[in-house]
Amino acid sequence: MNSTLTIALSKGRIYKETLPLLAKAGIVPVDDPETSRKLILDTNLAHVKLVVIRATDVPTFVQYGAADVGVAGKDVLLEHGGDGLYEPVDLQIAKCRLMVAGRKDEQAKPGRQRVATKYVNSTREYYAAKGTQVEIIKLYGSMELAPLVGLADVIVDLVDTGNTLKANGLEPLEHIADISSRLIVNKASMKMKHAMVQQFVDQIASAVNQ
Ligand code: ATP
Ligand code: PRP
Repeated sequence: MNSTLTIALSKGRIYKETLPLLAKAGIVPVDDPETSRKLILDTNLAHVKLVVIRATDVPTFVQYGAADVGVAGKDVLLEHGGDGLYEPVDLQIAKCRLMVAGRKDEQAKPGRQRVATKYVNSTREYYAAKGTQVEIIKLYGSMELAPLVGLADVIVDLVDTGNTLKANGLEPLEHIADISSRLIVNKASMKMKHAMVQQFVDQIASAVNQ
């Protein structure tokens, strides 16, 4: 049996905010992903490796067992759908809200609204639940630009301080979901490497509660 524990993380916010939790679980990376070109990082524990990948790829790596566990935002998990994954711990990090936002003082136009977002599935579900027909335009970033240049009437994006919206003359309009990052676990790893994975989950859960 493979006795390695592979943890999938994304660079930036999630990596920085997960590090203290890993440290409390006794895991300290040997390399820094911000400076290293390596994609598989060693840790102080020979059997624990980190893979550092794009945030949106974390659920996919864990779903297919390329990593045993990972950390992903609930926004990313809602889009992915959660197939093949357990989501045992809310890590209470990278907290924000998924919201509809639009131009200040803009009157709603008659007819179908255009909504720009990278969160196509969550947006579709949100408007379907309201019974509102909208046209969804998929973007990969800089959503805030869309209402300013007439590409869309509103956007669906993450909001934390609201500074990004404000800086672009936009305001939050409707709350869709509260977001935080979750520990995710591959279902087969939970079975095949049960003792090691369960111990890791317990250590991280207790680190969150400290
Ligand atoms: P990529 O660059 O790979 O497309 P990304 O830009 O979404 O990914 P991050 O900006 O590091 O990567 O965001 C990772 C996660 O952090 C998001 O999925 C979300 O859950 C959370 N997040 C994003 N923006 C904020 C924010 N402003 N405040 C708090 N949490 C946030
Ligand atoms: C996220 C999100 C918003 C911004 C919201 O972007 O896409 O643009 O944060 O945060 P605020 O309400 O505190 O301004 P991020 O900073 O992660 O940059 P990115 O677009 O490169 O992901």
